[in-house]
This record gives sequence, structure tokens and C-alpha cells, in this order.
Amino acid sequence: MKHFEYRNGALLCDGAAATDLAEEYGTPLYVYSESALRGQVRKLRTAFRELDLLICYAVKANFNLAVCDVFRDEGCGFDIVSGGELFRVKKIGGDTRKVVFAGVGKTKAEINEALDADILMFNIESESELRRIDQVAREKGKVAPVALRLNPDISVNTHKYMATGSRETKFGVDLATATRFLGIIDELRNVRLTGLHVHVGSQIETPEPYASTLDRVAAFLETCRDAEMEVEWLDVGGGFGIDYRADQAAAPDDFARAIVPRVKKTGCRAVLEPGRFLVGNSAILLTRVQYVKQQGDKTMVICDAGMNDLIRPALYDGYHQIWPAAADGPMPGDQQALNADGENRIRVDVVGPICETGDIFASDRVLPPVEEGDLLAIFSAGAYSFSMSSNYNSRPRACEVMITDGAPRMIRERETYEDLIVNEIT
Ligand SMILES: Cc1ncc(COP(=O)(O)O)c(C=O)c1O
Repeated sequence: MKHFEYRNGALLCDGAAATDLAEEYGTPLYVYSESALRGQVRKLRTAFRELDLLICYAVKANFNLAVCDVFRDEGCGFDIVSGGELFRVKKIGGDTRKVVFAGVGKTKAEINEALDADILMFNIESESELRRIDQVAREKGKVAPVALRLNPDISVNTHKYMATGSRETKFGVDLATATRFLGIIDELRNVRLTGLHVHVGSQIETPEPYASTLDRVAAFLETCRDAEMEVEWLDVGGGFGIDYRADQAAAPDDFARAIVPRVKKTGCRAVLEPGRFLVGNSAILLTRVQYVKQQGDKTMVICDAGMNDLIRPALYDGYHQIWPAAADGPMPGDQQALNADGENRIRVDVVGPICETGDIFASDRVLPPVEEGDLLAIFSAGAYSFSMSSNYNSRPRACEVMITDGAPRMIRERETYEDLIVNEIT
């Protein structure tokens, strides 16, 4: 089923008309499809059904409690990178024994909180962190379960800010260092090796990087076993790419074909940490055109959403399909229709109101003629969109709604001017 589709000249979000939603809740407005969120989890489960699998949703992709709650209800655990994300998991009654904690800068306080919550494992990114976790665990009389985050030195064809598996990045430890860590773990009394972890990047569009990563992990696993260290979990990370454009990323089955046999061979239980795959195409951002301005040869469509609401185009050169909410298609992903210049089409830059030249959602984009007051939909806006939003230019953050069985429900109120200053002291 298509969750966002055009019918009779109108964009529907799981049956709710985008224009009605914008009317009721105002713009900019994030609209999520609950059934899309659930559908994505089930697709992954089906593709990876041969594994003893724990799906840990990467909270950083979209931290809204209502979104996390859907994944809790689907039986997911959570991949966290901060005490704040752990707080969110606890708030929704998530099972903290299904939480994995990554990140290169875990503070003592965060380690304490995670130990109190009895999380599944800490993904270790450095020797100092390993020693710190051992020390904090000792003070509490606990033994911390740890997974070594390996840096397999794999390059991935994605934006350089989203590649995390090569040696030049700050993430994980190289295989020689990891081998040395086995000796340290053996000596330390308050950490116990339970897993190996990799996460080599985000928006990975082909299965190959997973295959070459896991081949290296499997070799390292033998080193662990030679050292008589039992490894129960293999955490393969997240990173599965999505279609921002039509047919951009491989399907879950393709990723599974590379991953499943390799993990099965190890005899380990598997963790996946998908973020973008679960939420990316489960939401859109609705924005109202404020002005249409001619600037030299260019037509600028100036919206009420800006880079503070959705920074992916500015930060990662991210592409998002954009189309008026009141129009005859194209269906999301219909690239031919999107690119076709010609009758009843204009070529524009879609920009926001922020005082930054980089505040551009799309350059040189083909659209049907748009006028001031029109409603535009920015597609694929579920991941790293609201979660990376800010109050830059003193702009209150957008409202979020979730559609369940055709009915909208507000899951985050639009911020007010008062919210902007609530923590400030004069
Ligand atoms: C350790 C870790 N796991 C999982 C993810 C989720 O990645 P994605 O949203 O591409 O699936 C990230 C993203 O940065 C990450 O750093």
C-alpha cells in the first residue's frame, strides 16, 4: 500500500488529505504514517527471518515518543547514543534490556544511567571508554556487558558525513587494536565481552559493504574464539538506504542475502540498528509557499519551512522529492514525471526563509506552476529531519502529527515564542 499518494488531484496521507491537515494544524507540519512505520519493521523481520534477530531502532533518526512507541509495540529494542535517548526509551516503557549504547563520548553519568537500566550492551569505541565503563561498573558492583565496535576500514559510497567505517573517522577501533583489547577485557573484572559491533555508514544503497564488513568481522570472531572469548551477539549496525529517488536503494531482501548467511555461519544472535529505513519514507513535511520571487533567470519559491526544520539538503546535499499537495501526481518516486520540463511546468529553486544562502531545499527543480499560498509536500522527511531541527533564527519548531487508520493525532505541539526563551535568564 502507498501511504502517501495522489488521488483526484490531492495528496493523501494514509487517506487524510494533506490540505486539510495543513489547514487544521498549520505549517510547517510533519505528517507520519503509523502503518508505514509498522510496515517497515515487518519488511525487515521478513527479510531477516532466518536469524535470531533483535531490531534496535536507532532513536537518533527520529526521537519523537510516539514514533518510538510504535517500535516498542512492534517488539523492537533501541539503539541509543546518549542519556537523553535512554530517558526517552524509559519514558515509553521500552525494554531497556533490549538497548544497545553506541557513541564515542559516553560520559560517566550516562554510563551510570545505562548500568542502572541493565542495558543489553555498551558498544565500545576506545580503550579509555572501556576502562571507564569497567571503573563505573566496579563502583556499582556490576559487570557491564560490552561489544567491541570494530572499524573494518570499509569505504561506503555515501555522503562523507555519513561514512563511519573507514580508518579516518572517529568511530570504532581497528582490528589490530581490537585484538589488543581482548587482553584488556580479560584482565578487567567488571566488563564482559558479549558482542561485536559494526556500523559502517548511513544511506548505504548496495549490499556489498555489508558483505565485506562481515567477512572481516567473521575473521576477528575467530580471534576472539581462539582467545576463549564467547561472543553471543553480532551487531551489524544500521545504514540501510531508502529511495529518496525512485529505485535508489537495494531492497531488504538484497541486504539480507549478503548478511544472513554470513551471520548464520558465526552462530551468533544478530542485532540490526536501522533508523532511516524505518522512518525515512514514513513521513512528509508540508510547507506553505510564502512568496514566488524572480531573481535574474531564476524563480525562487520561498516556503515557510527552512533549514532549521529540515537540514538534510544543506548538510548532506540530500535530495527530497517536492511536489504541490494539490496536483495530479506524480506518484512519489515517479522520476520521469518529476524531471519532465514542458507544458505546464516551471523550473525553480525551492528555498526557506532563513538568513543563509545554504537554506535551499532544491535547486533547479521542475514543478507545476506554484503560487503564493500553495501547499508543497517535501517527501521522505521522517529520518534525520525533525530530529536535526533547531530554533535557528528564533523559529519555533514545527508541529508533528501521526495518521493512524486515516485519523490524525498531534504528537508534538508547534512551539511558541515563549518556548524559545523558556530556559533563558536575564
Ligand atoms: C551506531 C549507529 N547505529 C545505527 C545508526 C542508524 O543508521 P541509519 O539511520 O542509517 O540506519 C547510526 C546512525 O548514525 C549509528 O551511528
